[in-house]
Amino acid sequence: MVSNRIKLIASLLSKSDKVLDVGTDHALLPIYLIKNDMVELADASDISSNVLINAKNNLSKSNLSNKINLYLSDGLKSIDVSRYNTLVICGMGYYTIRDILMDSNLETINKMIIQTNNHYSDFRTFIVSFGYKIKEEIWIQDQGIDYLIFNIEKGLQKLSNEEILCGVYNEKNIKYYENEIKKYEEVLKSIPNNLSNKINEINIIVDIYKSYLSREKTEEKN
Ligand SMILES: C[S@@+](CC[C@H](N)C(=O)[O-])C[C@H]1O[C@@H](n2cnc3c(N)ncnc32)[C@H](O)[C@@H]1O
Repeated sequence: MVSNRIKLIASLLSKSDKVLDVGTDHALLPIYLIKNDMVELADASDISSNVLINAKNNLSKSNLSNKINLYLSDGLKSIDVSRYNTLVICGMGYYTIRDILMDSNLETINKMIIQTNNHYSDFRTFIVSFGYKIKEEIWIQDQGIDYLIFNIEKGLQKLSNEEILCGVYNEKNIKYYENEIKKYEEVLKSIPNNLSNKINEINIIVDIYKSYLSREKTEEKN
């Protein structure tokens, strides 16, 4: 069964895309893409040879063994990336994704669909410093789990501090932002009263120091 998350990822690809699905696991995405004639090319890779045994079985069950190439590779190290214009890297942690991208020559890669499992802010900061821009961030809840899918293309982008923290605004993600606020409010509620009073007190003191320092500077100038 192809999940709604995989279907969403597939919907962001188009007929002219030559796709490599990095960390494919069961090869569900490339099988779905080729079966539905959604892209020009869909190959797949994984770092684990065990995983690729399952992927190979799935290809043969779908009669697609001669249409989808499977590669055993740590990231893109053993792959001729110049065959592709699009990368999909989904379901991995930020540091793994960052290392895969930094270790590769991505000259031909115009588009990437990325779903990092964690460290969204670090990922946003990294990807815009790397010559790519975030076209869209799409939230999906699949089997009770929240996922953010990043639709990325080559180009320059500057993100505000707010965008680095909260993401590139998407009206369709309002429920996601509301859930995040609720999560933070729950964290605040779980802080014991005496501790939260202390935090407020310290914040007030720090604010007073800051305003005191800035007044000193202004007076010096005068
Ligand atoms: C949670 S699965 C995600 C599978 C699929 N991409 C998805 O989104 O459903 C993560 C997969 O990434 C693979 N992986 C982890 N590190 C990798 C690396 N450095 N290079 C290639 N594949 C990697 C794992 O072996 C695993 O099959």
